[in-house]
Amino acid sequence: MGNSPGIKMDKFIIEGGKSLRGDVYISGAKNAALPLMVASLLAPGRTVLKNVPLLNDVLFLEKVLQHLGVKTHHENHTLVLDVPDTFHTEAPYDLVRKMRASIYVLGPMLARMKKACVSIPGGCTIGTRPIDLHLKGMERLGARITTEHGYIKARTKKLAGGEVFLSGTFGPSVGATCNVMMAAVLAQGTTIIREASQEPEVAELALFLNRMGAKITGIGSKTLTITGVNQLCPTEYSVIPDRIEAGTFITAAAITRGKVSVHNCQAAHLRAVIDKLKETGLPLQCEGNTIHVDATNYIPEPVDITTSAYPGFPTDMQAQMTSLLCFARGVSHVRDTIYPERFIHIQELLRMGANIQMADNMAAVTGVKKLSGAPVMASDLRASATLVLAALAARGESAILRIYHIDRGYEKIEEKLQKLGARIQRQQ
Ligand code: EPU
Repeated sequence: MGNSPGIKMDKFIIEGGKSLRGDVYISGAKNAALPLMVASLLAPGRTVLKNVPLLNDVLFLEKVLQHLGVKTHHENHTLVLDVPDTFHTEAPYDLVRKMRASIYVLGPMLARMKKACVSIPGGCTIGTRPIDLHLKGMERLGARITTEHGYIKARTKKLAGGEVFLSGTFGPSVGATCNVMMAAVLAQGTTIIREASQEPEVAELALFLNRMGAKITGIGSKTLTITGVNQLCPTEYSVIPDRIEAGTFITAAAITRGKVSVHNCQAAHLRAVIDKLKETGLPLQCEGNTIHVDATNYIPEPVDITTSAYPGFPTDMQAQMTSLLCFARGVSHVRDTIYPERFIHIQELLRMGANIQMADNMAAVTGVKKLSGAPVMASDLRASATLVLAALAARGESAILRIYHIDRGYEKIEEKLQKLGARIQRQQ
């Protein structure tokens, strides 16, 4: 997504070649916090969310909710959302274009206010991101939808339960599952969502909604059954740890041949990532909520990665793994089935000396002995993290431009890395 007013064009200057050592503490999950924030709209009153990460995406979404009439208040990592009895039902382009997750307001608007006017989210550097499944789901629950002048206009007399099949060309949709679930909790009758996303963030939303009084079963499975209720009550909830942030720090330890304990993470949410890292030969151990990595004598073995919906290998860790595989003892293959074109970071890795060939949306990564620091440009959130990882392992200095992307999804990444001994500075 493009630059926006208020976003600073900071850059990171990284002097590579230092092994990371020490402890790092993982923040709350961005992609779990965002739907919970929007779900607060389903119940008038005071919702309290704890362990909310301090990120630009959270602040963007707060602006959207404030525009609808919600009063918000932050105290460190606790976010209080005070939802009025009725709220505005227009989410304008200027707010939505900054963050796709704003589309989540569609479900709660229809459920509570019976109408919605939401800007269609725009382009995105990681690939085409349609919203057809969100709209199909709402229509199946009885909403009449038109799209005109760049806006989704939806109306209903009363949402009614139905059977919704949510798998598209690229598999199930996290966003559509969340959106339809939020609409269905207050619909009349029972909704069955088939081919629902099984991501932990989707399960968390379901658990949160049940805490508010919803009736959802099948949580964490491909079939969700939602029995509509008349009303929900606001509640308190703590956001789960960010599995992608945890995976990124484990990879940072691996790529710098460091020794790092990653705390506050749920290894169960990272099974596919841990399994793949073990396949590369990375020594790591899970102990309670901590993952210990000792990569002191580690050179990765090549592996093949194909991303898929949870519990498969997450697309949001694909780019970070690619930078690690740049140092492998042979050729690895990386394919992204969720966003087949999510490879913009490759061009920048090539500028640092990586040996990667792209063919048919597959990256063939041949390991090299070293990368060399270079000025590079971040293009999206996970691509920026990848460039940070590559720069930490490269010889010499790198400048990573446009790091506003990374500020959307990693809380104080440079401070956490500095504590591990990385030589990374933010410059304006
Ligand atoms: N899709 C459709 N139709 C739809 C919706 C999605 O065809 O109506 C397709 C998408 O184009 C994609 C696939 O289905 O190929 C999966 O998209 P999904 O809807 O699951 O993604 P999302 O909800 O838009 C969330 C995360 C992304 C993460 C994806 C996949 C949030 C706020 N975003 O996006 O996170 O990559 O799921 O796991 O939860 C990130 O954090 O960097 C990020 C991009």
